[in-house]
Amino acid sequence: MSVTSLSTATDDASPRSGLIGLAPMEGVIDALTRALLTESGGFDWSVTEFVRVTDARLPPRVFQRLCPELDHGSQTPAGTPVHLQLLGSQPDTLGENARVAAALGAPVVDMNFGCPAKTVNRHDGGAALLQSPERVYRAVKGVHEALKGTGIPVTAKLRLGFEDKTLALECARAAEDGGAQRLVVHARTRREGYRPPAHWAWVGRIRERADVPVVVNGDIWTLEDYWRAREVSGCRDVMLGRAALADPWLARRIRHWQHTGERLPATRWEDRSAFLIGYAERIDPCLPSKVVVSLLKQWLNIMRQHDSEAGEHFQRLRRITVLEDFMMALREDISVPD
Ligand SMILES: Cc1cc2nc3c(=O)[nH]c(=O)nc-3n(C[C@H](O)[C@H](O)[C@H](O)COP(=O)(O)O)c2cc1C
Repeated sequence: MSVTSLSTATDDASPRSGLIGLAPMEGVIDALTRALLTESGGFDWSVTEFVRVTDARLPPRVFQRLCPELDHGSQTPAGTPVHLQLLGSQPDTLGENARVAAALGAPVVDMNFGCPAKTVNRHDGGAALLQSPERVYRAVKGVHEALKGTGIPVTAKLRLGFEDKTLALECARAAEDGGAQRLVVHARTRREGYRPPAHWAWVGRIRERADVPVVVNGDIWTLEDYWRAREVSGCRDVMLGRAALADPWLARRIRHWQHTGERLPATRWEDRSAFLIGYAERIDPCLPSKVVVSLLKQWLNIMRQHDSEAGEHFQRLRRITVLEDFMMALREDISVPD
């Protein structure tokens, strides 16, 4: 679909408006990355990596480590709210830990019913619960009950199922009946992993039956994908995960289009390069320089999968192992104003 055919009205109440969430990504999107990604604007909320709850009440430092923003009003420096995600299955301990999160200042507690990791699933967490709507219901209810009186809502992030989609609608209903006030649906089963396509139409089926807002997530890489995911699912709101890394300006590009109907030009390599330099400068004091180089390459690797120019630069930069050389090579590409 061409963007021209997307352009219609220009006011805020236009059919184009809708919320954009920054997805939780364990091991990838930490507080520093959230700060960087929300700086360029466009995100309405973000979610922490999951706090794994087993059979105990966790000490506050566990929450604060994964969500340092708790000490700063639970917002990124740019003011984007940070929701705290819990992963677990036991209603009582989930509830207890939700209370800790609430006491520490979490504005929203999100629950993870999507993690496909074998170790997590073996221990009865993440997507494993999608095999039993009753357990989804009880887990959400445990948190919902625990948060009663705090005014802090619980939300749920689900996949379409574990092995297949047979229970997709029931699990979504169960989360809602348990008290979830918003559902984010990654449009794949656990079995489908991250393989395209994302089944946005299934998210639409969930949305049609839901009484709470449903957010579509999965494989939204471009402005065109954004609109198609919305059209196919009928959802107004979306969540971006890997694409926020592949193109850190995608949320801003979508927001600009929502407000004006105009399409911003594609992200230039110079901007990506400047972004990576900013990232490196922030993590450099905290990590060994070898790790910084490998994180830069990891990020560039994600960018190159969706941008041919980044691909060419990846080939040029991939053999560099010394941080100073890597930074110098990145700096070559950006013009520094006098
Ligand atoms: C490396 C990685 C880590 C993730 N960690 C989490 C997590 O902690 N909690 C969660 O709910 N989803 C997690 N997800 C799933 C994403 O939030 C998102 O649902 C998924 O990547 C699909 O969206 P996308 O196509 O926009 O990336 C993770 C995904 C990836 C690739």
